[in-house]
Amino acid sequence: MSVRIAPSVLSADFRKLGEEIAMCDAGGADWIHVDVMDGRFVPNLSFGVKVIEAAKKSTSKTIDVHLMVVEPENYFDDYVKAGADVLTIHAEAAPHLDRQLVRIKELGARAGVALNPGTPLSAIEEVVHMLDLLLIMSVNPGYGGQKFIEYSVDKIARARFLLDQAGSSAALEVDGGISRDTIQRCWAAGADTFVAGNAIFGAASPQAEIAVLRTRCVEQA
Ligand code: DX5
Ligand code: ZN
Repeated sequence: MSVRIAPSVLSADFRKLGEEIAMCDAGGADWIHVDVMDGRFVPNLSFGVKVIEAAKKSTSKTIDVHLMVVEPENYFDDYVKAGADVLTIHAEAAPHLDRQLVRIKELGARAGVALNPGTPLSAIEEVVHMLDLLLIMSVNPGYGGQKFIEYSVDKIARARFLLDQAGSSAALEVDGGISRDTIQRCWAAGADTFVAGNAIFGAASPQAEIAVLRTRCVEQA
C-alpha cells in the first residue's frame, strides 16, 4: 500500500493560492485536497467553483474535492467541469447515496463518501462496492487546525476490514488533525490517504513537512 499525502488548501495563503499549490506539487504532494463548505452542512463558508478551477490550473496532481454541503448533487456537474477528479460527499447529507455515487461516476469523476466522527460505518455498508474512496473524518468538519479525535483510529481499522472484506480497492482517506504525531497511528490502522492542512501550511517548510509525514508512515511499514 502506498502513502498519499493530500495538502488541504483551506490552510493555504489565499493571496498566492496558485503558488502554494505549485509548491506542494513540487514538494511531492500526491493529491490536492479542496474543502467546499456551504455554511449549512458545516458552520463555515469556504469556496466553490472558482477555487477548484484555480487549483486545476496550478497542478496536474489529482484534485480531491471534499463537499461539506447539503444537496451536494446541485454541484456535481460544475465541479467536475471545473476540474474535480475525486468528488466526496457526506453520507449525512446524501439520502440518495446510490443515485449520487452513480451520477458522480457518470460525469467521469471518482466517487467518495465521507463519514463524520459520530456517523457509523454501517452508513456505507450497502454501497461499499461502489466507492472509489472512503473518507473517515477525524475531526468534526468545518475548520482547519482542530484536534485529532483519537477514537477515529479504531474506526479506520474497522473501515479497512470492511473494504478488504468487500474486495474493494477504494482509497481510505483520513481528514482532520493529521500531523507528524497522529499520522502513524492512522497508517498502522489501514488508512492510505492523508489530508493535512495546518500541519503542512503551518510548517516552516511545507515541502519538508510533506516528506516528514510520508516518512512517518514508511518508517513503520
Ligand atoms: C475540515 C476539513 C479539512 C481541514 C483539515 O473540516 O475537511 O480538510 O482542512 O485541516 P487540518 O489538517 O488543519 O485539521
Ligand atoms: Zn477536507
